Amino acid sequence: MKIPFNKPYLAPGEEEILLDSYRSRAHCGNHAYGSRCVELLQKRYGLGGVFLTPSCTAALEMGAVLAGIGPGDEVILPSYTFSSTANAIVLFGGRPVFCEVEPDTMNVDVEHLASLITERTKMIVPIDYAGIPCDINRIMALAGKMGIPVMQDAAQSLHSSHNGQSCGAVADLAVFSFHETKNFTCGEGGALVVNRPDWLERASFLQEKGTDRSLVLKGVRSKYQWVDKGSSYLLADPLAAMLYAQLDKAEFITSLRARLTAAYSELFAPYEARGCLRTPHAPDGAILNHHAFFVIFDSEANQQEFLARLIRRDIYAYIGYMPLHSSPMGARFGYSPEDLPVTMDLASRLVRLPFYVDLAEEGLEYCLEGMRVVLRELYGE
Ligand SMILES: Cc1ncc(COP(=O)(O)O)c(C=O)c1O
Repeated sequence: MKIPFNKPYLAPGEEEILLDSYRSRAHCGNHAYGSRCVELLQKRYGLGGVFLTPSCTAALEMGAVLAGIGPGDEVILPSYTFSSTANAIVLFGGRPVFCEVEPDTMNVDVEHLASLITERTKMIVPIDYAGIPCDINRIMALAGKMGIPVMQDAAQSLHSSHNGQSCGAVADLAVFSFHETKNFTCGEGGALVVNRPDWLERASFLQEKGTDRSLVLKGVRSKYQWVDKGSSYLLADPLAAMLYAQLDKAEFITSLRARLTAAYSELFAPYEARGCLRTPHAPDGAILNHHAFFVIFDSEANQQEFLARLIRRDIYAYIGYMPLHSSPMGARFGYSPEDLPVTMDLASRLVRLPFYVDLAEEGLEYCLEGMRVVLRELYGE
């Protein structure tokens, strides 16, 4: 049996909904299913304005434009993230300032973040790694004192919450991903959340190629015109239809994913108790979307052995991110790997386990048994 790292989920009823959109002959962005998704997201998660985009990468770019990122501006973000978080800043001439993470969650270390704020800081972009909420209230309080906007990269954390606040509902801006590796997917897709009322209209212009087409759709204008800079940041309606089918089944999807978290937690707990490795520890009050499960081994050698021995059993776990500051682009911004030692160390020992809805129904026992054997080989009984 082969256990892949990820497998996109097909929700019950998704095919019919997709066909319905196809047959509607209204396939461009901001149509029927797009509007349904927006309404559902706003109501269920208490979000401000929601703009569906072709990807989370595109949503991050829109956020950088709204925050006015320009040449020389500094933006603080974790080095432990995907390239898109940094590209959104770099594309507009901004400079990424990389921050350390902490081991329980792999999210930003807020103390370190605070020490990096200067008068050139134009934005802060924390992420919610593996769907675990970062400490957004503390980050907002810190940024608020200095008048710095915060864009939460919630690519992985839709449907997670902390103390009753959904991820994406608190920061000035937030972004989600609907890429096929995410909990709710339409192949490629994303969303920008704008919680600042004064940025809403501009976001709608930006999404529609710098035109005020949104005012025509609302009936405020009869013709639309070029009013601002912008691009085509829209999600086609058949993709929004696929997404709607999945969002509609969010509780069911999450309940199956929760089984994986429970099974992995039980398997690794005795080894964590013995100090062989550590597993994620979400903050008190967090409710998770069960996006992913990671293990941080006691050494890079054991991380490598664990991965290699699982591959021999056709089980595909994966390393996490390569820290951005240690990448060729990081070097161009003057970084060397030793600048963020905590991130380098944790990243070198981290493994992400296979995690997808269908695994809860088929293959989980095989996967757990393979891991059980490998853990025994590495650490003894
Ligand atoms: C933290 C983070 N930000 C942004 C992205 C980019 O998302 P997308 O592929 O939808 O552009 C990802 C993708 O995995 C991610 O993990």
